[in-house]
Amino acid sequence: MVKVGVIGGTGVYDPTWLRGAQERTVETPYGPAAVVEGVLATGAEQAVVFMNRHGSGHSVPPHRVNYRANLWALKSLEVQRVVATAAVGSLNVAMAPGSMVLVDQFLDFTKNRPVTFYDGGPEGVVHTDVTEPYCPESRQRLLEAGEAVGVPLVMGGVYVTTEGPRFETPAEIRAFRMLGGDLVGMTGVPEVVLARELGLCYTSIALVTNYAAGISKTALTHQEVLDVMGQHVSRLRDVMLAGLNGLGHAYHCSCPPAEGPLADH
Ligand code: HPA
Repeated sequence: MVKVGVIGGTGVYDPTWLRGAQERTVETPYGPAAVVEGVLATGAEQAVVFMNRHGSGHSVPPHRVNYRANLWALKSLEVQRVVATAAVGSLNVAMAPGSMVLVDQFLDFTKNRPVTFYDGGPEGVVHTDVTEPYCPESRQRLLEAGEAVGVPLVMGGVYVTTEGPRFETPAEIRAFRMLGGDLVGMTGVPEVVLARELGLCYTSIALVTNYAAGISKTALTHQEVLDVMGQHVSRLRDVMLAGLNGLGHAYHCSCPPAEGPLADH
């Protein structure tokens, strides 16, 4: 079985579900990344590497997350499949707060972050295909895991990534909706793109914590995001744990190997 990585987003911090958990810091060309390695406490001998996207104590804001170090660290620990969690706002009334969505496309409105490993160095110029940014096979397995534990997941949704750390204006949200966005968050890009560059299978389970600005009847707060995440995090964990057991098995997707010299770094 291959190793699975979990990137815990807002509200998903403590991997109490790992047996033999060992914390360590992985040095990468982009800086250190803290991880917890262990074996899934439920079910088969599934090796898992967990990391907090926002660092310990949720101290790193979305635009400052060291996405390259995080993904590089997972790859260098021989992780092949990555499941990320994300708190998101919803632009789509069919995806109400509490819904969980297996994202299948993104729109990128970030402005100011390193978005690639191919930055003009010795690896040369590489344009990575992102026709299918999120691994379809992982999504299918997580959907089935959700059914098995009685947690319905929405199959597919367009995740708009904003730069943050501010929330959006209602005008931005109206524009994103016109462009086909369903969900809005601040971390989806470049995480998924970097995973593609490294040839990792990447999936995101987005948990809707609020309707986006202008759709919500009240002003948005980070506390609301944390509170709603807290209400649903056990269902999210149920899906993840059920799903992780299946993600280590053989796949037929076309995520790996990525084109480009870093696929086998
Ligand atoms: N906007 C951006 N990011 C978010 C939101 C939102 O409404 N909710 C949770 N993360």
